[in-house]
Amino acid sequence: MVQVRKAVVLAAGLGTRMLPATKAIPKEMLPVVDKPLIQYAVEEACGAGLSTIIFVVAEGKQAIADHFGHTTRVEAFAREQRDQGLLDLVQAPSKLAQFAFVLQDAPRGIAHAVACAREYLEGEPFALIFPDDLIVSERPCLAQMIDAYQGSGSMIAVQEVATEDVPQYGIVDPDGGGNPVRLKGIVEKPLPEDAPSRLGVVGRYIIGPSIFEHIDRIVPGKNGELQITDALAGQIGAGEPVTAFTYEGTRFDTGRPVGYLTANIAVALGRPDIAPALRQRLAALEAQRVD
Ligand code: G1P
Repeated sequence: MVQVRKAVVLAAGLGTRMLPATKAIPKEMLPVVDKPLIQYAVEEACGAGLSTIIFVVAEGKQAIADHFGHTTRVEAFAREQRDQGLLDLVQAPSKLAQFAFVLQDAPRGIAHAVACAREYLEGEPFALIFPDDLIVSERPCLAQMIDAYQGSGSMIAVQEVATEDVPQYGIVDPDGGGNPVRLKGIVEKPLPEDAPSRLGVVGRYIIGPSIFEHIDRIVPGKNGELQITDALAGQIGAGEPVTAFTYEGTRFDTGRPVGYLTANIAVALGRPDIAPALRQRLAALEAQRVD
């Protein structure tokens, strides 16, 4: 069985759907309850047994390196105070895995972002994670995928999406049934009438090493960007096993305000230290009884 050891975490996007919050703060650093989105992504990868995380970042994302590093003021403060509890909390992100950072110097698409990390990835399958897709599940989504991965080709997480939302997603064309199911095609953000199914791509992939040959061959696609969807279509065209996997769990699109707020409420309702008070406040809001 081929081991998946590394994950690419994409953190180079502009975050335009969450402005003005994301003007000076990376969208990946927005908190869900009290933890930044990107930490959930890294924890999911580590929970799936991965040990190396490669962040693809852009200008203005320094806060991400700070979050996974050791140089913040609060860490220095915790050391000075010899406050072990505080120190454990601030050092937890840096202890999760080994980290590398690569720069995407222009927004040229997801395939281009992945190619920026090529030197770390060549010759082995790797995971690809979009931190704005937060997946809450008993077993980490990536762990479920790695269990189901056959060791060759690529695997893409999917969920059924509403017809009107089809143009926001990569849409897969399954060849029959089952889970995982082999694909005969995949298309980036089609119109509903052109879509081969209602199964939309969610930001979790296991990607086979031939992807770089296909990224080299693709041309700018939807929105003028180099799309990972098109490179995956290249793998399918070359006869590689590319499958779609329906995971168990709830996914939140935190890149949009409603999804972001829902994720905060859902995660908080799962937290015994917060849930009772939150339930009370929500009930009061619901009843229009807030002071
Ligand atoms: C990207 C991918 C798309 C996928 C989506 C999942 O789109 O291009 O195929 O369905 O992520 O979140 P974006 O949301 O970056 O526009």
